[in-house]
Amino acid sequence: MAVQRAQGAEDRVRGAGGRVLDFLGRQAWMDRPSYRLENVLSFAFNAFGGARNRVTNFLNGVWLGHPVHPPLASLTTGALGTTVALDALGLLPGRASTEALDASRFAQRALGLGILANFASAATGVTDWQHTHESDRRIGLVHGVLNLVATGLYIQSWRDRRRGRHGRGIVTSAVGYAITSGSGFLGGALVFGSGIGMDQSGERLRIDTWTPVLPEAELPAGNKPTRVDVDGVGVVLCRDGDNVSAFAARCPHLAAPMEDGWVDRGRLVCPWHGSQFDLHTGVVLRGPAAAPLPCYQARVKDGMVELREGVATPLGVGRVRYLDPKPGQCPEIASAEEIAQ
Ligand code: FES
Repeated sequence: MAVQRAQGAEDRVRGAGGRVLDFLGRQAWMDRPSYRLENVLSFAFNAFGGARNRVTNFLNGVWLGHPVHPPLASLTTGALGTTVALDALGLLPGRASTEALDASRFAQRALGLGILANFASAATGVTDWQHTHESDRRIGLVHGVLNLVATGLYIQSWRDRRRGRHGRGIVTSAVGYAITSGSGFLGGALVFGSGIGMDQSGERLRIDTWTPVLPEAELPAGNKPTRVDVDGVGVVLCRDGDNVSAFAARCPHLAAPMEDGWVDRGRLVCPWHGSQFDLHTGVVLRGPAAAPLPCYQARVKDGMVELREGVATPLGVGRVRYLDPKPGQCPEIASAEEIAQ
């Protein structure tokens, strides 16, 4: 009885929205079709051959520093919301016929823009979705299916309007917008509840003086990063020839432990979905991570690896095109002289 009362209280706190999310998140039968869809997506991206990474980086938002899907989704809902508002305006009694005609014309243009933005939003959303897991993956699948149904209604509405069946077009787009709003709730839960698309690299290290963190002899040779904790903040150290690099211990994409990753040809590779980060700056060279991996300044002095704060990733410098930067090229990377001091 007490357990039931506690469950009831928890349900009231979570509200109807939370119960819907719980319900969808438990539908394990969705995993099979969703992994099939993921295979289809992989096949489609592989068809780009050598351009595959450029295409997925673009869709993941590596060039922007965060996913492109949320701003495109905002553009979509904005344009479609405008359609619904203009339709409502045109239906108000007492409007001049020219005003109603203008409202109808602009509503159709906004609808066309919304449909195009919906396609772009779907392409970016599905690229982000393919790397999600379990309940997030199931909720994301429902989000996508709802948007697909809504897009079908918008296209039908657009065709109806073109054929002069305005009343039907207005109803169809209004129903589509109601579905888009419900789907938007699920998308918002994925971002704000589960952190999908947010930078998940966690707490930053805040030390502005060189601080010894590990005897150099304990840093293994080879391509495996080593994790240390400094001031309660996780950091991974990587050898790169005679140099040492230091990064946040969690991948910005979905918080994979970067000590399980590896160094490959000047890149630190995430163990979960293969994001690749430049070993000098943490800049993303290959997604799905969109945000750079926080990078600290590191040196070896008197047999100790020392670190200090100083994010080496310059905001606004092309995250993809910033190829092979060397210490001293980027103003925020310690120069060789500074490191030697
Ligand atoms: S957790 Fe997904 S790429 Fe690192």
